[in-house]
Amino acid sequence: AAWEKQVRLSSTPRRTNGFSVLVTGAAGFVGSHCSLALKKRGDGVLGLDNFNNYYDPSLKRARQNLLSKHQVFIVEGDLNDGPLLTKLFDVVPFTHVLHLAAQAGVRYAMQNPQSYISSNIAGFVNLLEVAKAANPQPSIVWASSSSVYGLNTENPFSERDRTDQPASLYAATKKAGEEIAHTYNHIYGLSLTGLRFFTVYGPWGRPDMAYFFFTKDILQGKSIDIYETHDQKEVARDFTYIDDVVKGCLGALDTAEKSTGSGGKKKGAAQLRVYNLGNTSPVPVGRLVSILEGLLSTKAKKHVITMPRNGDVPFTHANVTLAFKDFGYKPTTDLSTGLRKFVKWYISYYGIQSKTRKESQATGESG
Ligand code: NAD
Ligand code: UGA
Repeated sequence: AAWEKQVRLSSTPRRTNGFSVLVTGAAGFVGSHCSLALKKRGDGVLGLDNFNNYYDPSLKRARQNLLSKHQVFIVEGDLNDGPLLTKLFDVVPFTHVLHLAAQAGVRYAMQNPQSYISSNIAGFVNLLEVAKAANPQPSIVWASSSSVYGLNTENPFSERDRTDQPASLYAATKKAGEEIAHTYNHIYGLSLTGLRFFTVYGPWGRPDMAYFFFTKDILQGKSIDIYETHDQKEVARDFTYIDDVVKGCLGALDTAEKSTGSGGKKKGAAQLRVYNLGNTSPVPVGRLVSILEGLLSTKAKKHVITMPRNGDVPFTHANVTLAFKDFGYKPTTDLSTGLRKFVKWYISYYGIQSKTRKESQATGESG
């Protein structure tokens, strides 16, 4: 069928020993960037995305258009559709899966808890079930999250720090993902690498994230809410630029071991690895806002709320020694530089008066 032909074409590598990668969440922020980067270096890429409307689906369609210009095809479907996933693995001998599809956002979990269970737990398990049965078994790199550190107060966070105090259901599902991964590695010998991303931002970003809707609201003269910690300190985030995260994802794929098909403690069993991918330099939200004010040449109308947002953690800060040691991960973009690139993209995409673009009205600020 035409569909099968497209699937094969998109996922066939063009370089010698190139990968054939299934990228879930390919119409998403991180997924679209990673898909392009993989395709550009000669790997075969097939996307999967359900194009849900958690935030502006037209932005996902625009990313899809960009990808299709680079011969990356996105299959529209859900992680929980077992027969569809099985069919994809029947058609394509994927060497790798880059699993980025998830219900993201920390605060939306209080509005729609089931969507987190469905995508981040049930959907992940469904993907692992299909991957374990596939021949060959792919190596899997998947997105965990800095939110697993929860209320941990070690500074900076290392991979061995405690992750037993999640502050949101989102964080709890990401933590569950890490434990589920352990079992599939242990029993079925699946090679699994989890990446704990730290508040990723950049062009083609997510409209539900603060840097994105702060930009929109500052341009539109609307007031923005800035939340503090319980003891009225500034909240800080280890904001990480998308290009650094993409390099980290590709590095993790490049160094992923092969799945062995046999787990347990057998010699040569595939390993389960987990890495922080952050920027190593936390910035208070107030500083984020003042950088944006400078870039937009507009004063923000700030409304400081002297308590935390439900589900928020007071700070995040990555130690990335392990990712550096294993695949040379080294963040190189500071927040001012990265935000300049974001703002440039934002204005070219929406125009300076973001009101004029229909897309901006549909953005999900509820998250
Ligand atoms: P995103 O929402 O832009 O991308 C996720 C994509 O997955 C979306 O396009 C969505 O339509 C799709 N999707 C969701 N559920 C699905 C399902 N059940 N079946 C098929 N497709 C589905 O988010 P993002 O910022 O690109 O995040 C990518 C991954 O990184 C997620 O796992 C997220 O939890 C994780 N993460 C992101 C950040 C960040 O700051 N952006 C930080 C830490 C972790
Ligand atoms: C982000 C992503 O949304 C999650 O998907 C991801 O898992 C997480 O990073 C992570 O690193 O693991 P978060 O850091 O909460 O979560 O990102 P934002 O929602 O953009 O918030 C950033 C900061 O702005 C937070 O400190 C938050 O308190 C603050 N904020 C947010 C405000 O001060 N005002 C707002 O109106 C919204």
